[in-house]
Amino acid sequence: MSTHYKKTHIGQHPLKPESLMMGYGYDPQLSEGSIKCPNFQTSTFVFKSAEQGKDFFNVVSGRRPLEPGEQAGLVYSRFNNPTIEIAENRIAVWDQAEDCILTGSGMSAISTTLLTFSRPGDVVVYSEPIYGGTDTLINVILKQMGIQSVGYLSSEGSAGLERAIKDASALGNISVVMLETPDNPTNNLLDIAACKALLDTLTQDQEAAPVLAVDNTMLGPLWQRPLAHGADLCLYSLTKYVGGHSDLIGGSCSGSKALVSKVRKVRNSIGTTMDSNTAWLILRSLETLKIRMQAANDGASKVVDFLSSHDKVTRIDYPGLLKTNDPQYAIYQKQCTGAGSTFSFEVKGGEAGAFAVLNKLKLVKLAVSLGGTESLAQHPAAMTHSGVPKDRREFIGVTEGLIRISIGIEDADDIIADLAQALN
Ligand SMILES: Cc1ncc(COP(=O)(O)O)c(C=O)c1O
Repeated sequence: MSTHYKKTHIGQHPLKPESLMMGYGYDPQLSEGSIKCPNFQTSTFVFKSAEQGKDFFNVVSGRRPLEPGEQAGLVYSRFNNPTIEIAENRIAVWDQAEDCILTGSGMSAISTTLLTFSRPGDVVVYSEPIYGGTDTLINVILKQMGIQSVGYLSSEGSAGLERAIKDASALGNISVVMLETPDNPTNNLLDIAACKALLDTLTQDQEAAPVLAVDNTMLGPLWQRPLAHGADLCLYSLTKYVGGHSDLIGGSCSGSKALVSKVRKVRNSIGTTMDSNTAWLILRSLETLKIRMQAANDGASKVVDFLSSHDKVTRIDYPGLLKTNDPQYAIYQKQCTGAGSTFSFEVKGGEAGAFAVLNKLKLVKLAVSLGGTESLAQHPAAMTHSGVPKDRREFIGVTEGLIRISIGIEDADDIIADLAQALN
């Protein structure tokens, strides 16, 4: 019902994702002419006949493959729902992916993906630092199920990954390589294409190639498209830039039809599906995604200019400041189209110095999370990364004076005025 209205061109002219966000996948005539896709707030769907119900079940369960161009019939909102499917189609447009599924949170996108491909005895390789929830999932929850892990520092780049792959291969079958680029909060970039090439050469003996999954929450989908650089799956916490208004929790997983259909099957079974109301909010948010991310990016660049010349600021981790002789610069040039708007800066005076700044902020809110319309600042060592042992934190650059800030879409001069009074 919902997905046949998929015009991507006017004649020969290809439409850009920002234009497709207003209508792609939705036919108003199927919903009383409503200009906006309604929220299909329903748990279940009525079949025309018992035979149709049987057939729809055969399709959603994978017992009958879809014919070319055929859409799966609507059965039950844990499996499929028009509002959710239209939002999935639109995120797939941004990611240049064949398919996408929405999940109830970023963590459920990550956990459903890892559970889909990993079995007891397998090994998950991951870059560090990685989002704390992902770290706990890999090193505590999956470990309890007999799934092993090998991490490597993103600052070590491809050499670190090569060592990690060799160590992991000695332990067992590598199921998933999970990368986060840029890392959080220090903004090191990983070369996705180089990771893919290394995997192709070093894991040839495995029965099935490891799945290369990239958490693209920090820069995507506007400033980085991992699938175009060789990733198999692109994951998001939609809670951040895509949702963009700090009013929802959601996640997604995009990639080839073959891989995403495997993740969908597990999602539908364990019930990590997004609800239609959140999917409707995602549709709302996708319409302004580009202008929000662009405005935040421009604002961040002005704020970085201000901080760069401030005598109380000792370090700024922002990809836009990379020097041409830095090996990270080449990765930034080939893989990213913008520096994003979440970055960290270190102030003098350690924790006391950082807390003094955070406590004096008036416009910028003191809160974790990122990617919303409002600017947020937090102290990684005491908050998001407090679970990482202190010596490890210092080693990866999460020092006591470090503040992470997510620039919103307020006027940049107002944000600068706020930071200036807090720093002074
Ligand atoms: C990079 C990254 N990935 C995943 C997550 C988890 O997302 P969610 O909170 O939507 O489950 C977060 C949350 O902060 C994140 O920053």
